[in-house]
Amino acid sequence: MTMSPPSTESFTPPAGTAAPTDRPDVVDLYLKHIGSGRAVMGRVMGGMAEVRSEGTWIHTDDGRRFLDFGGYGVFIMGHRHPAVVEAVHRQIDTHPLASRVLLEPVAARAAQALAAHTPPGLDYVHFVNSGTEATEAALKLARAHGLTSVITTRSGFHGKTLGALSVTANATYQTPFQPLLPDVTQVAYDDPADLEQALAARRDRACVIVEPVQGEGGVRIPRPGYLGQVRALCQAYGAMLVVDEIQTGMGRLGTWWGVDAEGVRPDVLLVGKGLSGGVVPVAAMVATADAYAPFSRDPYLHTSTFGASPIACAAALATVRAMEEEDTVARAAALGPRILTGVRDVCAPYQGGLVREVRGRGLLIGIEFAEEQAVGELLLELISRGVLVNNSLNSTRVLRLTPPAVVDDSALDLFLTTLGAALRGTADRMTG
Ligand SMILES: Cc1ncc(COP(=O)(O)O)c(C=O)c1O
Repeated sequence: MTMSPPSTESFTPPAGTAAPTDRPDVVDLYLKHIGSGRAVMGRVMGGMAEVRSEGTWIHTDDGRRFLDFGGYGVFIMGHRHPAVVEAVHRQIDTHPLASRVLLEPVAARAAQALAAHTPPGLDYVHFVNSGTEATEAALKLARAHGLTSVITTRSGFHGKTLGALSVTANATYQTPFQPLLPDVTQVAYDDPADLEQALAARRDRACVIVEPVQGEGGVRIPRPGYLGQVRALCQAYGAMLVVDEIQTGMGRLGTWWGVDAEGVRPDVLLVGKGLSGGVVPVAAMVATADAYAPFSRDPYLHTSTFGASPIACAAALATVRAMEEEDTVARAAALGPRILTGVRDVCAPYQGGLVREVRGRGLLIGIEFAEEQAVGELLLELISRGVLVNNSLNSTRVLRLTPPAVVDDSALDLFLTTLGAALRGTADRMTG
């Protein structure tokens, strides 16, 4: 992880904010069985062990609670959404894993429910267990069409399994694993001319993968019309368009999908994170009939034992239903600008100094700092005050906020007050 401070040598916890309970037993187990890097990071973060969660809150075993505005974008419905928990309990009590020989109705219903909200024509759903597997499925689907060249965008993030890593444009993660997939080209994000040049050299043999807003890339929001131009260019040069909505989808941007804002219909849409309902890992690749044809013809072409398990599909189905009932997308659309304004106000005294820019769409908000170090310092200042947020894996100067759509006014006020205090602490530490 390329977070700025967590090097043990350089970091000292903010004054008076050291963790009340360091869990040496858990840290020790991490050291012995999970890895020293993660153990050290956990200790730097305060050494607390999280044991319980609900809604916007995570609880540690020492009785503290943390407001979760991070979760790498998973918790649009909060932690353990009650309707999803109930559906998953019911599924566990009846049929959690399938034979994969007979038909399984929960997967079918979940696919139907999800496809009811994807852009018109994206009707075919391939469920997987993680975002990176959704990317893998899309890359293989493109290959099955003979599209062997892949175009991705700089700072784009699409996962870390070997195929997905090939299109995740970050040398830190790629270099140790070279050679990756051949014939992958990186183009500038939000630059249709650069894309066209790459496509022109790969007519009828390319697949383009792009995010509507780059999440891990530091909440990079393209100019209006970009996605439409990408769509038109793919059409013109015979390329398959894969839009990765693993982070931006499921209402995160205040629309069901980022592509909705521009009325763009990709050939393939990738879904993950929020589809879990904050309960069970599940992701999906959704495609048009034409794009999906190779997988449709041969159901064994791309499979995995646990893919589309009833338990995961029960979570996905209940999540989509809960989003419909609670009007989550409209709530995200209304909340997003409020939170963005609040964050901008709190950051205003530091604008032009510590803070370079605050930007966001819906419930995906980034604070860009002048210096990389500020991200880690602020993250730790926030943790010490009971708030969790994330850094951006592909953009080291951007702190990322992905609040849940279920956040209430008092939690929001608490967040903004805490952010103000943490920024003051960060500014003092950076100048002091
Ligand atoms: C846009 C995007 N694609 C793919 C992934 C990979 O998903 P996962 O971590 O579930 O494998 C992520 C994760 O952050 C993501 O943000």
